[in-house]
Amino acid sequence: MKITVVGRGHVGGGLARLWTAAGHQVTGLGREGGDASGADVVVVAVPGPTIADALAQVSGLAGQPAIDACNHYGSRDDTHASLSHQIKSIIGGPTAKSFSTNFAAAYDEISQQRATPSNLYASDPEARTITEQLIRDAGYEPLYVGGLTPGARLLEDSSAITRAIAAQIGPFFYRYASPGAL
Ligand SMILES: NC(=O)c1ccc[n+]([C@@H]2O[C@H](COP(=O)([O-])OP(=O)(O)OC[C@H]3O[C@@H](n4cnc5c(N)ncnc54)[C@H](OP(=O)(O)O)[C@@H]3O)[C@@H](O)[C@H]2O)c1
Repeated sequence: MKITVVGRGHVGGGLARLWTAAGHQVTGLGREGGDASGADVVVVAVPGPTIADALAQVSGLAGQPAIDACNHYGSRDDTHASLSHQIKSIIGGPTAKSFSTNFAAAYDEISQQRATPSNLYASDPEARTITEQLIRDAGYEPLYVGGLTPGARLLEDSSAITRAIAAQIGPFFYRYASPGAL
């Protein structure tokens, strides 16, 4: 798959490494932007307040499926229901939110866990298959929490509990499972 990742920091750079190792062709773009016209999927991993600026530097955005990995801290304007909706309004294709509840600092240890860690995601129906594949190719087990509305905002609003747990135990994995499956 041809993946363009906007943002090549901890998340964008880390996912690019994992997906390249899984056999994908990944192009990472920093704040200077670049061309995404050949991409099968566009992944956005920049600070939430910089989404509009970051995507304004990227040409060739024309309805590709998109995955939003961003979080938002502090106050926000409610022009969009979520950061994922903002990204969808710019790129125009089916959109998912994933990787926002998983720590980049732990990417290198995913494969060493006793149980495959979960990755919560919300998605438009048309973006589910590609998102699940990329979650699995990064080493996680996808766990769907619903459509982009209201799922993306639910995931964004969960960042406070994620940070509260991390304040106790540092970067962590999580695994949700039915009784008997842990
Ligand atoms: N770190 C985590 O564990 C984690 C986990 C889940 C979600 N997230 C979310 O994922 C997103 C990326 O986090 P990160 O930790 O990867 O951040 P980071 O290491 O600081 O990297 C940010 C990236 O965004 C790029 N960028 C593009 N336009 C920008 C602009 N106008 N201003 C600032 N940066 C711009 C930067 O470009 P340059 O390379 O040119 O500087 C850089 O590649 C954030 O929304 C964060 O909340 C982070």
